[in-house]
Amino acid sequence: MYYIGVDLGTSSVKLILMDAGGDIIKSVSKSYPLSFPRSGWSEQDPYQWFDRTMEGLHELLDGTDRSLVRGMSFGGQMHGLVVLDEDDRVLRPAILWNDGRTGKETDYLNDTVGKDFLSAHTANIAFAGFTAPKILWMRENEPELFKRIRKIMLPKDYLQYRLTGVFATDVSDASGMLLLDVKNRAWSDEMIRLLQIEKDMLPGLYESSEITGKLLPGIAQELGLKEVYVTAGAGDNAAAAVGTGTIGEGRCNISLGTSGTVFISSGSFRVDGNNALHSFCHADGSWHLMGCMLSAASCLKWWTEEILKSPDYDGEQKDIRDLGKNEVYFLPYLMGERSPHNDPYARGVFAGMTMNTKREDMMQAVMEGVAFALRDSVEVARSLGIDIPVTRICGGGSKSRLWVRILANVLGIEVEIPELDEGPGLGAAILAAVALGEYASIEEACKKIVRVKERIAPDPVLTELYDRKYKVFKELYPAMKPAFTLMHDAL
Ligand code: XUL
Repeated sequence: MYYIGVDLGTSSVKLILMDAGGDIIKSVSKSYPLSFPRSGWSEQDPYQWFDRTMEGLHELLDGTDRSLVRGMSFGGQMHGLVVLDEDDRVLRPAILWNDGRTGKETDYLNDTVGKDFLSAHTANIAFAGFTAPKILWMRENEPELFKRIRKIMLPKDYLQYRLTGVFATDVSDASGMLLLDVKNRAWSDEMIRLLQIEKDMLPGLYESSEITGKLLPGIAQELGLKEVYVTAGAGDNAAAAVGTGTIGEGRCNISLGTSGTVFISSGSFRVDGNNALHSFCHADGSWHLMGCMLSAASCLKWWTEEILKSPDYDGEQKDIRDLGKNEVYFLPYLMGERSPHNDPYARGVFAGMTMNTKREDMMQAVMEGVAFALRDSVEVARSLGIDIPVTRICGGGSKSRLWVRILANVLGIEVEIPELDEGPGLGAAILAAVALGEYASIEEACKKIVRVKERIAPDPVLTELYDRKYKVFKELYPAMKPAFTLMHDAL
């Protein structure tokens, strides 16, 4: 039997076809634009998600035995606000996870409603990219559209709705809305009341490996498929964690994608007392802690393609030799920052250049800056007594051995690179296979499907050098913070 995993990312939708044994038969990717209508804003067109997914599905299934396809599931970019009217028309472009327009609403939630209230009811505080502040922003700034909202959903759930007609989400993705009582895996009535929305505007809640429905007959017919069951799926980080075998107690997965995340699986519910790490439901029926930086591999893309105007990533990195000795620092806050600073007004900064600074030093600084910013989240976990001796890795950035080496040494953590680098798409296909009884549990599926192909251990000398650099890096954001606020006010 075959299972389809759909990963609705920020730059593209990636689809994989997996067989029952966990081998990838085929994968397809279709990209769509991302728009930044104002500084710090980030939007996308949900119709494009659907159209590109359908194109991708046609291509994925071309030349394969369609009668074998039995299940489908999703991993999706989290937190995005998708709103539909009474005729199921999309009311405005989706406001994405890395959109920073809700500084005022986030402050209102954290300072006036109060972090204690939010944490008690949702296990989290407000961050600019979360869904609830976006709902408040719409209420304030687009009141006419706000009145017409009938359905509120997350990006992957829009796909699911169009493909199955079922208005559903899963608990891992719903955790990032600031509307879910994460501990009890149920919508929070207090938050619904606070946002002045109706409960029936929110999707039905499912566990990630629960079946929500079947492909609509028209869709199945168009794709030449028979009866295909659809499984709720997960937010992309929880799906990627399944795809790298990061389940159960105390395992770690780092995603070096458009965003950068440190995902720590947990056998039970727990909250970081300062809420610097998110406390979310995991796709395996348990929970996890997570730090998220908003610009990770996207910093490298920006630097290489936008600034150097070079298509040659390897060529631009080939002269980088002296790890741990670079004088240049980079703050990777091109879209503001989530963990741990929670500052939508933070911006990218290079520091420490001299007349000796070369092109490759700047490139190295970008890669190191992302690694240092990920270490900020790892340090929060360490301060909670969580020991992370080893981590798995996924995402586009993990294809660079140099970057993985930098990361292992900056974090002082051994990095395991899985054989299959499909991340959320693989996790989604695994969830579908488990839902349809191909495996007895997610754990059993991960044991059989996920294998590590390479391990990169930290080198004690480099780790020591990077420790010294990290101390400097840590001083840069607090020093710049007042200037970031002034920059924002001067816009
Ligand atoms: C996680 C987050 C990002 C997006 C990227 O909290 O905002 O990792 O899910 O797709």
